[in-house]
Amino acid sequence: MPAIVVVGTQWGDEGKGKIVDFLTAKAHFVVRFQGGNNAGHTLVINQKKYILHLIPSGIFHPQTVCVIGNGVVVDPAVLISEIENLKNAGVEITPKKLKISERAHAIMPYHKALDLAREAKAKKNKIGTTGRGIGPCYEDKVARRGFRLIDLTRPKYFKERLKTILEEKNFFLQYLSAEPLDYKEICEKYLEFGKYLKPYLTDVSSLLWEGFKKNKNILFEGAQGTYLDIDYGTYPYVTSSNTLAGNACCGSGLGPTFIKEVIGIVKAYTTRVGEGPFPTELKDEIGEYLREKGGEYGSTTGRPRRCGWLDLVMVKFAIKLNGITSLALTKLDVLSGLSKIKLCVVYRIGKKILETFPTTLEDFSKIEPVYEEFPGWEENLEGIEDLNKLPKEAKEYIKTIESYLGVPISIISTGPGRENCLILRDNFFH
Ligand code: GDP
Ligand code: IMO
Ligand code: MG
Repeated sequence: MPAIVVVGTQWGDEGKGKIVDFLTAKAHFVVRFQGGNNAGHTLVINQKKYILHLIPSGIFHPQTVCVIGNGVVVDPAVLISEIENLKNAGVEITPKKLKISERAHAIMPYHKALDLAREAKAKKNKIGTTGRGIGPCYEDKVARRGFRLIDLTRPKYFKERLKTILEEKNFFLQYLSAEPLDYKEICEKYLEFGKYLKPYLTDVSSLLWEGFKKNKNILFEGAQGTYLDIDYGTYPYVTSSNTLAGNACCGSGLGPTFIKEVIGIVKAYTTRVGEGPFPTELKDEIGEYLREKGGEYGSTTGRPRRCGWLDLVMVKFAIKLNGITSLALTKLDVLSGLSKIKLCVVYRIGKKILETFPTTLEDFSKIEPVYEEFPGWEENLEGIEDLNKLPKEAKEYIKTIESYLGVPISIISTGPGRENCLILRDNFFH
């Protein structure tokens, strides 16, 4: 049985949650492997909207086990309230249904405080983080001074270690003009979190390995997107984890030979939240149109998303970086009503044509996108379930994307609802 990875090919918010929910119909496990509650994945089921930050987007399928892998950074308070809110909404969440890696690192109150204080101090040089403590938590993981979720269930170890760690954190917080944090308060809170989460904690690697041996279908749910990747994104305007498909293995403990397919999610235009380069950004009424029609406001922070034309140079590089085997094109319906639609096919620096994605901010400041222009269409696409019923201009747009990228489009999404999907291939799990 194949394991499939779903990743975003742009700067996040491509519609990963919706597509993962769709693919979960045939999955036994849905696994988050990186990021934390900086993610906001939206599902619309029977006209009801749910936004998930930490719990995998497979949670609404009763037969599926949802897994939070070791590569995720978990804010226990956020996770617990997400569990409780879903339970209150009638979703069954038990330790059988939700499994969390005991090795996943915990976001501590000082991580959040440091994230916010650093951004405030950086002023106009800020990254525009979600302020959820993601970066500082990954820093501590790599610096070998983090707390793993299992550590919240070991009071003696936790209390001793927190003492020295908090001393240093409070020193930094004060340097950044932020309030120091109280040791006793953190101890009490986090040991309570440990008690709550204990029944859900497990060795995720063994769980997935056992599943694999029993021919179970495993679906990995990427968070963020290719260009927020710590190595290949628009550094330093990135998140602090590897968002690429390759990290599904390290972030879950399942080896690379099990992955048979990588599905790249491509929004029919481009968006970005926070600071950083964005070659095809539209700071005009078309950008505004996309934002309002597409509801482009952050699912996590509510910030307006920057909007622009689809950039095929980015997506083409994302295909290589992730080993993408097929694409899901989302939000095609949002383009209805535009008289002209543009696609960026290469970049230009002066007279030089550039077909690759730049590495430095300096190069980003010099490039100009080169566009191909297409006629738009007026028809509303919501509810169309047959490719042939799409307006001919939309078909032309899709055909151009596919032939430029050289990878087939397997799903076209034409609305936020679970049912708004055109399925061009349905044998993802054979
Ligand atoms: P994710 O982070 O990649 O899961 O994406 P988000 O949930 O942050 O943002 C995608 C937004 O677009 C959400 O509000 C979805 O409900 C919505 N959405 C997803 N697919 C479509 C689509 O095909 N058409 C429209 N109009 N909205 C969509
Ligand atoms: P999903 O999974 C869009 C962005 C932030 C900021 C940068 C660093 O919903 O697609 P961080 O808090 O991670 O240190 O912020 O990354 N960012 C996202 N943008 N979608 C996301 O997740 C994001 N997660 C982080 O806006 O620019
Ligand atoms: Mg999102």
